[in-house]
Amino acid sequence: MRKTSDIIWQDTQHQVLFELIGRIKEVPFDPDILIQLKLYAEHHFILEETYMQLLEYPHRDEHIEAHDRFRSELEAMLETDPTMHESLQVSLSDFLYKWLKLHVLGIDKKLEDFVLKSSVK
Ligand SMILES: [Fe+2]
Ligand SMILES: [Fe+2]
Repeated sequence: MRKTSDIIWQDTQHQVLFELIGRIKEVPFDPDILIQLKLYAEHHFILEETYMQLLEYPHRDEHIEAHDRFRSELEAMLETDPTMHESLQVSLSDFLYKWLKLHVLGIDKKLEDFVLKSSVK
């Protein structure tokens, strides 16, 4: 577990998601970005989930369920025909923007407040 004076890890990692969305929309489309997105998401979720378990965060079950829904929706999108990348670029970026708005700016912020008030930052 990284020790920082504030919860920089969360904002920094969410910034990476913004950058990945920008790259998903680029033409020509780079299919490697999908692997990077999957790796990023898993790494980031595990970090948040580790904090939630460690701090016995009261809303951890619903938060982890939301991560699991993201995992399965992303998996389904990544199974689409790679030659259909134009529609994938649109659906994936829409999906990630909605995620940013509803999850990152919603329940992730509640987690951040909780972590900041705890002794483990
Ligand atoms: Fe997050
Ligand atoms: Fe989260």
